[in-house]
Amino acid sequence: MTIPDLRIDGDRLANRLAELARIGATPDGGVTRPAFSAEDHRAHDLFAGWLAEAGLAVRWDAAGNLFGRLPGADPAAAPLLIGSHLDTVPNGGRYDGALGCVGALEVAATIAGSGLTPARPLEVVVWSDEEGWRFSGGFFGSMAFTGTLRPAMLDAVDAQGTSIGEALKKWGLDRATVGDAARHGPLAGYLELHIEQGPMLESRGLAVGVVDSIVGLVGLDVHLEGRAGHAGTVPMALRADALCAAAEAVLACERIGRAAVGVTATVGTLSVRPGASNVIPGACRFSVDLRSADATTLWRCQEAIREAIEAAAQRRSARATIAPSMQVAPVALSERLVAALERACARRGLQAPRMGSGAGHDAMILSGIAEAGMLFVRCREGISHHPAEYAGPEDNTTGVQVLLDAALELCGTAS
Ligand code: HGY
Ligand code: MN
Ligand code: MN
Repeated sequence: MTIPDLRIDGDRLANRLAELARIGATPDGGVTRPAFSAEDHRAHDLFAGWLAEAGLAVRWDAAGNLFGRLPGADPAAAPLLIGSHLDTVPNGGRYDGALGCVGALEVAATIAGSGLTPARPLEVVVWSDEEGWRFSGGFFGSMAFTGTLRPAMLDAVDAQGTSIGEALKKWGLDRATVGDAARHGPLAGYLELHIEQGPMLESRGLAVGVVDSIVGLVGLDVHLEGRAGHAGTVPMALRADALCAAAEAVLACERIGRAAVGVTATVGTLSVRPGASNVIPGACRFSVDLRSADATTLWRCQEAIREAIEAAAQRRSARATIAPSMQVAPVALSERLVAALERACARRGLQAPRMGSGAGHDAMILSGIAEAGMLFVRCREGISHHPAEYAGPEDNTTGVQVLLDAALELCGTAS
């Protein structure tokens, strides 16, 4: 198949990434754009303007996902979706999600600007609330789109006491109609470009890699209820200290994660109530993030962690409540799309290894309803979810060029 030799504009890509990074910029060079915040909305608005500027038809769905459509010669044909997310973790990096969004825009803008018409529609998408730390547990927009949103995700409240319903309202969205995002036609596939967020490509001296699988992910929201009391008068033997129970549970999570092969287990948040130096902790809440590429191992470790939390609570006369905030099995990505990305890499003379992803991505959610593929771009020292996250302009341009070539092959062009 002959694919037109279109070239993306690397300067425009780099400039737009820099402009986006100014929204929610932190003093040490990072970015904080919590999902459904004012900063997140500003980023989406800026991006919507760029979509319109490229001549794409812009629309938002009921879950806050943003789309820009380049029509195909056959308007009824299923579209190819390409995109990522614009929300970030607190003091996160400038490339996680942003590269995939600006890259997808660059692909569509390049095709639109060339005067070529793709045979099928090409749609750029920005998924809402991918990171999940503020409210939902993650993948809110893509789960709404795929009809897999759990009802509890619509009841989430952030650390400041703002409900997701209130935050959605500020975005002009209605909690009651979020499910409408699942009303859409079939897709020709979904491609996502992302920084690797790990050190493998850099260690091999390679700019890009083709993702063939994504780890499974379990999120747990743990509540430990002990008994508060006077720090100076309640004897040590008579306490139900929720923080001591949590401390035991946290270390058990680490132990279980270390003992298993290819597993990560992380407690990233912990809050103590009432939170006073002279009061015995009466209650504790913490998160567990557990990942593995092997489903059996993932579910087994989840069970072991649940049992360890219960046991720690019991030893400390506390009560444990464990609610799942995320349960996604590991996924294999589409062999057809993996092969298309590999052809695109070969076409540009790039050696691109197949690799698994230890990070979660909207592609894993999309793979439930459509063929999904991902391309990774090398990032410095594998650092991500950190202000020092960096992916160089040359590598980014290379990655977006591969995305463009793959999209052109998968969409076809009208003669
Ligand atoms: O947490 C993750 O894997 C992703 O960055 N949302
Ligand atoms: Mn991330
Ligand atoms: Mn990401």
